[in-house]
Amino acid sequence: MSHKSKKSKMRQMRPVPLVSNGGNMINFKEEIAKMIGKAINLDTNELETFIEKPKDIKNGDYAFPCFRLAKELKKAPPQIANEIKEKIEVNEEFIGKVEVLGGYLNFYVNQKLLVEEVLCNIEQNEESTKPKIGEGKNIIIDYSAPNIAKPFHIGHLRSTVIGGALYNIYKYLGYNITGINYLGDYGTQFGKLIEGYKLWGDEYDIEKEPINELTKIYIRINQECKENESILNACRDNFKKLEEGDVYCRQIWEKFKNLSLKEFQKVYDLLGSKFDSWNGESFYSDKMGEVLEILEKSGKLIESQGAKIIDLEEQGINTPCIIEKSNGSSTYATRDLAAILYRSRTYNFDKALYVTSYEQVLHFKQVFEVAKLLGIEEKYIKGLKHIPFGMVLLPTGKMSTREGNIIKLEELLNEAIKRAGDIIEKKNPMLENKEEVAKKVGIGAVIFNDLANSRVKDEIFDWNQILNFQGETGPYIQYTYVRTKSVLEKAGNLPNIDEINKEKLLDEYAIAILKLIYEFEDILIQVTNKEEPSILARYLIDLAKAYSSFYNENKIITDDKELQNARVYLTYGVSEILKTGANLLGIEMPEKM
Ligand code: ARG
Repeated sequence: MSHKSKKSKMRQMRPVPLVSNGGNMINFKEEIAKMIGKAINLDTNELETFIEKPKDIKNGDYAFPCFRLAKELKKAPPQIANEIKEKIEVNEEFIGKVEVLGGYLNFYVNQKLLVEEVLCNIEQNEESTKPKIGEGKNIIIDYSAPNIAKPFHIGHLRSTVIGGALYNIYKYLGYNITGINYLGDYGTQFGKLIEGYKLWGDEYDIEKEPINELTKIYIRINQECKENESILNACRDNFKKLEEGDVYCRQIWEKFKNLSLKEFQKVYDLLGSKFDSWNGESFYSDKMGEVLEILEKSGKLIESQGAKIIDLEEQGINTPCIIEKSNGSSTYATRDLAAILYRSRTYNFDKALYVTSYEQVLHFKQVFEVAKLLGIEEKYIKGLKHIPFGMVLLPTGKMSTREGNIIKLEELLNEAIKRAGDIIEKKNPMLENKEEVAKKVGIGAVIFNDLANSRVKDEIFDWNQILNFQGETGPYIQYTYVRTKSVLEKAGNLPNIDEINKEKLLDEYAIAILKLIYEFEDILIQVTNKEEPSILARYLIDLAKAYSSFYNENKIITDDKELQNARVYLTYGVSEILKTGANLLGIEMPEKM
């Protein structure tokens, strides 16, 4: 494999991090599959899906398990492995050696080639080699979606952070992605709030502290509703009026909405979140009639205790989907159905992702099932995907707005920044731009903590853990990045790739890093296959750890210039990937800390 188009000019380090194998790197898996395919006359593509990565690196870089072939060939897996090994013509350009271990064939890649491949890719990482795997595909992602007049709490943080990471990664892979903030700006709770505001509005200063004050009203009116049926009915009536366009109700509602949005924006500014569309629930208020009509025509809409529902028993869902309440009001489900109809017509999506807590699993099951009755193309139905995540637990248990037992996200983020600032003050009081760094570290710690574990797991929020610079945390990744930066600074100009002696990077620590860099794009693809940003978060920890070992075991700045150049170049590669990867998760990197 020749590496054409190498630029041989000396150049400064590039300021923009762009690392990608752009699909240009040798695909070792494919090469192995080809060799096996030739030996046993089987389809290469299928064989490639068999190939795995051994858990223990001592057992090679790739393994081909022979268990699946055992039935077909009526032989024991170790025997098959040995037979393949006999027949296989090892292409030494790609593979250093092949060994049999039990029912596995283990492949060791040609390390020199690996070094060359990875280095050239670090070197070539320009716009033209950015991945194109997503080209021509449309993805929409519905995330964040806080509720107007309620606090933007730590539960919404997860949706914002997970959704934001997925958004960035899809985009990086070349997909056309649209991020939608489906604001909870509609629903019966507004009937309650309007009633509370009518009753006690002048007791609360909602201009000054809108969400705090509205929350108080909300808690109070809920209490009142529990005790007084007629108040509850008045609340329901208000929402109905709001839907019918009653001027007074709409005015109050709009006021709540504008004040809330201003507050939410403070959180988005801290997190760096941006959205392409802000069409929230109310956007669909005039689009539900059509849904009702279609469902009516389908013959599946039935009356039950005055409400209109779709029974889903046959589909294995025990709870029916309520489309219209007995008082004629729409529901959360109806609005989501209207949104599906609209989005199928507007975005021609291949996938529509909904990032919410797992408490909404049933809701999305119902809605996706009923969506089949809307008469939209099959491909849209197939593309609907709920991406549930676990709860953030406090030592005191679950959070709920109604009980007032919540942590406000803005306060939490500011607390993180403050704590990061305190740590910096202790560790590095002379640091420039301390405030800016504290912000990156504090926010980065919170974001990373949210993404570090598989998303369906519940998470307990623990300050000491998330800000631990030595642990598996955001600050640890930032700290490692800063370390690469200081190595690069010490080394001066980045060496020219043509002058690098690849033999100098064959030690186990360098190889471990090179293998990780080689995998970067594959990791991103795995993230999109499973909608699981934790795969990237784990990867960054692995890379940071691999670099720390490399750094501790190897002298980088040394009298042996050849050795130094090679190691500096590798450091540059790590630096770029750490930055690109962290940015994809929504984490900003300080240059010093
Ligand atoms: N506002 C909702 C909540 O806070 C989340 C909305 C999720 N998106 C959707 N299309 N239903 O629970």
